[in-house]
Amino acid sequence: MFKNQKFNYAVFGNPVNHSKSPEIHDLFSKQTGILHIYKSVNVPLDSFDTILHDFFNKYGQGANITAPFKQEAYFFCDKLTERAKISKSVNTFKKVDNKYILGDNTDGIGLLSDLIRLNFIKKNYSILIIGAGGAVKGVLFPLLSFGCSIFILNRTFLNAKKLVSQFNKYGNIEIFNKRSLKIKFFDLIINATSTLIGEKDDFIPLSVVSSKTCFYDMNYRKDNTFFIDWCLKIGTNFFSNGIGMLVFQAAHSFFLWHNILPKTDYIIDILKK
Ligand SMILES: NC(=O)c1ccc[n+]([C@@H]2O[C@H](COP(=O)([O-])OP(=O)(O)OC[C@H]3O[C@@H](n4cnc5c(N)ncnc54)[C@H](OP(=O)(O)O)[C@@H]3O)[C@@H](O)[C@H]2O)c1
Repeated sequence: MFKNQKFNYAVFGNPVNHSKSPEIHDLFSKQTGILHIYKSVNVPLDSFDTILHDFFNKYGQGANITAPFKQEAYFFCDKLTERAKISKSVNTFKKVDNKYILGDNTDGIGLLSDLIRLNFIKKNYSILIIGAGGAVKGVLFPLLSFGCSIFILNRTFLNAKKLVSQFNKYGNIEIFNKRSLKIKFFDLIINATSTLIGEKDDFIPLSVVSSKTCFYDMNYRKDNTFFIDWCLKIGTNFFSNGIGMLVFQAAHSFFLWHNILPKTDYIIDILKK
């Protein structure tokens, strides 16, 4: 597959043509002067292992992995960083010493960095996360370690339950249950679903929202998601999409590959436009 393609870094996913990662890594490359040719590769759902082996046997030095392959990526690597081990989800590969593939997860540090930049997070905050997929696995440990309490609301209850069992040794995490909720309002509400289209307006009871609640959508497409439209409708000023998280997680992948953490703020501004 990679016979005539001499790029050494890429994002692999399905679908992946919407990805902004090549643009971000191109800007990192220009900023740091590190030659780093980064493309996007759409992977058929049954071909993840074959395509990734092929890439690393040819020119591949590093990769980002996006939905729906973060779980497969976890089992693909030879070694794992501590945060990837804890999250059991991988979004970054590095070929080390031409010998083995190291798996990492930079989604958590990416989200936390952006929440800090936006002033959306403080220790002891109560956070509602909607969704329980691969991205949530990556962010729970950093948010719990920061000292926040997490509540999970997900379409499939069993997936939320599995997450709570996996992470409750690291801090206060439980399934969202309006009736037994000990707190009054959430300080932060994060949409980590791949869609919420078709949901009704009352997918979050307004009684758990205060005038100070912040809202973060991990999605970052150009047109407004259902979640962002809903934020506008309820009249909050404290909301953001996930473009900053994307740039920060990319910067930490770049750091794993090249040992340099690129500057991010002006890139977030470019991508917002
Ligand atoms: N900004 C960033 O840097 C960044 C990083 C990572 C991910 N993301 C974004 O975050 C989103 C989630 O990624 P992921 O890797 O966690 O995906 P995933 O593993 O496929 O998980 C998808 C989640 O969305 C839920 N869901 C799907 N369709 C739904 C619907 N119609 N109504 C309600 N819930 C629905 C799923 O619920 P079930 O459990 O019921 O299936 C699951 O919790 C994606 O859109 C991705 O692009 C952004």
